[in-house]
Amino acid sequence: MPSDSPLCLCFHISQRKVWNYLRIHQPQRASQLSECFGAGTGCGWCRPYLELMFQRWKAGALQPDDLPVPSEYAWQRTQYVQEEGLVLPPGATPTDDAPPDRSTH
Ligand code: FES
Repeated sequence: MPSDSPLCLCFHISQRKVWNYLRIHQPQRASQLSECFGAGTGCGWCRPYLELMFQRWKAGALQPDDLPVPSEYAWQRTQYVQEEGLVLPPGATPTDDAPPDRSTH
């Protein structure tokens, strides 16, 4: 079952929502996933993951691959946005400023 973890962090779109969109609307191109609540139209960080999910769905997979750990995924997005000097569009969720806690207890 696809995860409820956010795939598009800018617009709070979960992996499950994208997978359901693929199943129901059967887009012909990965770029059509932008019609799924605007997935990929913010900072662009999630676009490679959207493309991977689209390819996996096209190949007939029953579920998508797991995403990276959510805190790592969010931190990688923060670094991407900062390094690219991106300005997020209106309505997009701001990036987290703190790196994930990688300590093991
Ligand atoms: S995380 Fe999807 S566009 Fe920013």
